[in-house]
Amino acid sequence: ENAGTVVYENSTEASKAVAKEIADLIKVKEAQKQPCILGLATGSSPKGLYAELVRLHKEEGLSFKNVVSFNLDEYYPMEPDSINSYVRFMKELLFDQVDILPENCHIPDGTLSKEGIADYCSQYEAKIKALGGIDLQILGIGGNGHIGFNESGSLQNSKTRLVALDHITRVAASNDFSGLDNTPRTAITLGVKAIMEAKRVILMAWGERKSNIIKASIEGEVTNRVPASYLQEHNNATFVLDKAAASKL
Ligand code: GLP
Repeated sequence: ENAGTVVYENSTEASKAVAKEIADLIKVKEAQKQPCILGLATGSSPKGLYAELVRLHKEEGLSFKNVVSFNLDEYYPMEPDSINSYVRFMKELLFDQVDILPENCHIPDGTLSKEGIADYCSQYEAKIKALGGIDLQILGIGGNGHIGFNESGSLQNSKTRLVALDHITRVAASNDFSGLDNTPRTAITLGVKAIMEAKRVILMAWGERKSNIIKASIEGEVTNRVPASYLQEHNNATFVLDKAAASKL
């Protein structure tokens, strides 16, 4: 009923459909001898997608040699080999299991000095631009409507930057960090502007716990209180949901 919303029976079916779209895009770009620029996300929501992409590589020969990836975000500070780093997450779930070239995988660097962050962030955006922009951006959604780590209040033209994490975001992450005290207070995130400039955006959300924020994002007003609501103004964004996440629409 909502343009730009597709509902699947469950997250497995949904993840397979998104993987198929990505695989098709990779092949089209390969045939055109072009790189395929993917914007990638972490969190629990894309795990099934990455598992299916790994399966397509191992069982159906899907190659990632022409893929260049840019992850949305990383905690700051964060060591790449730390158990909770998004570098480690991406290596374990995708990069180390497919034939993507390590030099083509970009994740914001959690080890920078504070003074170096602003320059690093503008270079991160410049690299994306130099490659022609993100062809397809994968997003999850935080319980407060954040995309990447663009928390409530992030403006539509916000740049890639160091952000303070909301208390609610830290609480959600605190289990992974064995307590709130050990949970990072800041992160580096791709800005809303760069996300909105992606040619195609797919936001994935599963489960009842996401149903209220999904309703607000799709049917509520476009507001900086709910950064995912900005996607209503994107010309090629789709919310891919399971039945439970869609249950309040
Ligand atoms: C973190 C990530 C977001 C992700 C969110 C939701 O905050 N930085 O990119 O969308 O978690 O996580 P989950 O998919 O586990 O619900």
